[in-house]
Amino acid sequence: MKNIPEREFNYADADFARVKAIIYRKAGINLGDSKKQLVYSRLARRLRVLQLDNFDEYLAYLDHNKNEQQEFINALTTNLTAFFREAHHFSTLADYARNRKATAGKLRVWCAASSTGEEPYSIAMTLVEAYGSYSPPVEIIASDIDSSVLEFAAQGIYSLDRLDVLSLEQKKHFFLRGKGRNNGSAKVIDKLRQLVDFRQINLLDRDWRLGAGFDVIFCRNVMIYFDKPTQLQLLERMVRLLKPEGLYIAGHSESFSNASHLVKLVAKTTYKLIDNHAGERQ
Ligand SMILES: C[S@@+](CC[C@H](N)C(=O)[O-])C[C@H]1O[C@@H](n2cnc3c(N)ncnc32)[C@H](O)[C@@H]1O
Repeated sequence: MKNIPEREFNYADADFARVKAIIYRKAGINLGDSKKQLVYSRLARRLRVLQLDNFDEYLAYLDHNKNEQQEFINALTTNLTAFFREAHHFSTLADYARNRKATAGKLRVWCAASSTGEEPYSIAMTLVEAYGSYSPPVEIIASDIDSSVLEFAAQGIYSLDRLDVLSLEQKKHFFLRGKGRNNGSAKVIDKLRQLVDFRQINLLDRDWRLGAGFDVIFCRNVMIYFDKPTQLQLLERMVRLLKPEGLYIAGHSESFSNASHLVKLVAKTTYKLIDNHAGERQ
């Protein structure tokens, strides 16, 4: 028989079931049974930090400790992202900006699961290039539930290999290369950093405090963690924040064919409100 390595902490099916219920209630994240081991390794780190002996103790501690509830969420989110991920969406954004009337006011974008910042900074670079100005008439709000990725994003420091997908010009125009002990990393320039307003928003919150009138909502690769009813509820609330001509941009594996009463597909994973919803507000 194969040797199954012993776990450092006792971790029963009932512990996993409790974790599943809590993260679903707090963040809408719907963990499948295949995630049992992943959850163990992510939370075992928290038990070590807190010097607790088992999951039972951890879950009791979690119950009463607000800070730990945030750490718990941070530990269980998946933050995979990249600069210009699904590059076609950024061409769509650039076209949208170029075709917009100069009198239309600020172009408002919400990046609703911005993770470590690569996505909102890609949006900002795209709009600087589209307007040919480091102070384009735009407002970019980037949000996530995870406080640690938001802190990372606000610093705007990335290892150089993350920047491989950028053109030489983009690296030159938008990043400062680290020297000395910062060798191997690059920092987003202040002018680009200042274009992005990072906020903590849980998509399950009743009120996102954003106001309406968005030109584009990027909500990519986060709906996949939610169940179908949650996805539909969120889509309904988000598209009501769009201007009538606005765009809702989804991730590569997210499809809203079940929401044809609400949105229509206008380009690859890019949606617009169907006409009878245009102009409705949250
Ligand atoms: C896989 S990343 C996607 C990042 C980026 N949008 C992209 O496509 O490259 C998913 C992000 O969704 C965030 N997230 C998960 N549940 C959330 C919730 N309820 N509210 C807001 N953000 C959430 C996670 O913290 C994570 O940073």
